[in-house]
Amino acid sequence: MADKPEYVPGLAGVPAARSSVCLINGAEGKLQYRGYPIEQLAEKCTYEQVAYMLLFGEFATDDELKAFEAELARERSLKFRIIDVLKNLPERGHPMDALTAAVASMGMFYPGDHVEDLEFRRLSAVRLVAKLPTVVAAWHRIRQGDNPIEPRADLGHAANFLYMLHGEEPDELTAKIMDVALILHAEHSMNASTFTARVTGSTLADPYAAVASAIGSLAGPLHGGANERVLSLLETIPDSKPENVRRWAEDKLARKEKIMGFGHRVYKAKDPRATVLQGLVGQLFEKFGSSPIYGVATELEKQMEQLVGHKGIYPNVDFYSGIVYEKMGIPIDLFTPVFAIARVAGWLAHLLEQLQDNRIFRPSQIWVGEADRTVP
Ligand code: CMC
Repeated sequence: MADKPEYVPGLAGVPAARSSVCLINGAEGKLQYRGYPIEQLAEKCTYEQVAYMLLFGEFATDDELKAFEAELARERSLKFRIIDVLKNLPERGHPMDALTAAVASMGMFYPGDHVEDLEFRRLSAVRLVAKLPTVVAAWHRIRQGDNPIEPRADLGHAANFLYMLHGEEPDELTAKIMDVALILHAEHSMNASTFTARVTGSTLADPYAAVASAIGSLAGPLHGGANERVLSLLETIPDSKPENVRRWAEDKLARKEKIMGFGHRVYKAKDPRATVLQGLVGQLFEKFGSSPIYGVATELEKQMEQLVGHKGIYPNVDFYSGIVYEKMGIPIDLFTPVFAIARVAGWLAHLLEQLQDNRIFRPSQIWVGEADRTVP
């Protein structure tokens, strides 16, 4: 008889796909999208260029990029009935739930013959990348009793999002930093939400269902939802004095509490995205003044390195993203939706890859219950 299959909690280290979308070397803290290092992508590209490359495998030529940007801009606006869906949701509800609801409803507004239809797949992917920022901005305005702001086709993806959110065009630096933050969050291999998108997609459900389920998965505090919690956690540290920060961290660790923004299943060194984000913090502070919370954060990073660095626990992408977003005037409960706006390109790249050589996900289980019982 064959050996019993081994149970691996959280499927840690178990390959779930063959993929050429994203390469991570956790020991060295390396991240590459389709072989291109994240540092180069953040420095040289726009989110639109990166999204195209993720979705279709190679960078667009100049003409292809122009056509893609124009198509994204055309697809930004929402049908008024999708706005109506948002208007009917409770304004105190979490924006991630509003985003899930709106994306799920898109499957009804944009039905396709079948996901095997390549043009339906492509167009659904473009629509989702284009419309997610509009949904998040519209929801934020609706819940405050304001009317959503129509997207502007003359602005780039990141600048247009900030414009729809705040009602004014962002300055060049803020738009650039938002663009880089979107690039940094665009893809990250087989994490929980990407796996979710691939599992849903493997049933040949439509891309709207795949992305709606991925958004649900991203929302949890162990995944994308961590970025909302980092700032409030940092606020519980009295000041940036090394002895106070150390005592705070030691207490948390002694109670076996997780410190949000630290640790990663794959990285055992500092997440390279956290390093790029720290560079952005510097630029933002130079222009808009510094935040005292940043001093607390850098001291916590130092203390945590001494306390748990040997266990491979270092800052992840969520540790500095909240400080950047807060400085840009983004409300805390929109931090995870902003993550989703970026990551949708990665989810869809994986979905398209999954559909090229699909087999429905159907893992097994290890039975631990009783069998052959009699109903009393
Ligand atoms: N604070 C304190 N201890 C930690 C932390 C942390 N943030 N992360 C891991 N550990 C410890 C954990 O207590 C355990 O210790 P021990 O071996 O003594 O029991 C050990 O490290 C392994 O932790 P784990 O939870 O089994 O590791 P995992 O690979 O299952 O989880 C993680 C990875 C990201 C869920 C976890 O590090 C965590 O909960 N971090 C805090 C939440 C967070 O920041 N999430 C964002 C992740 S990056 C963005 C994204 O992908 O969404």
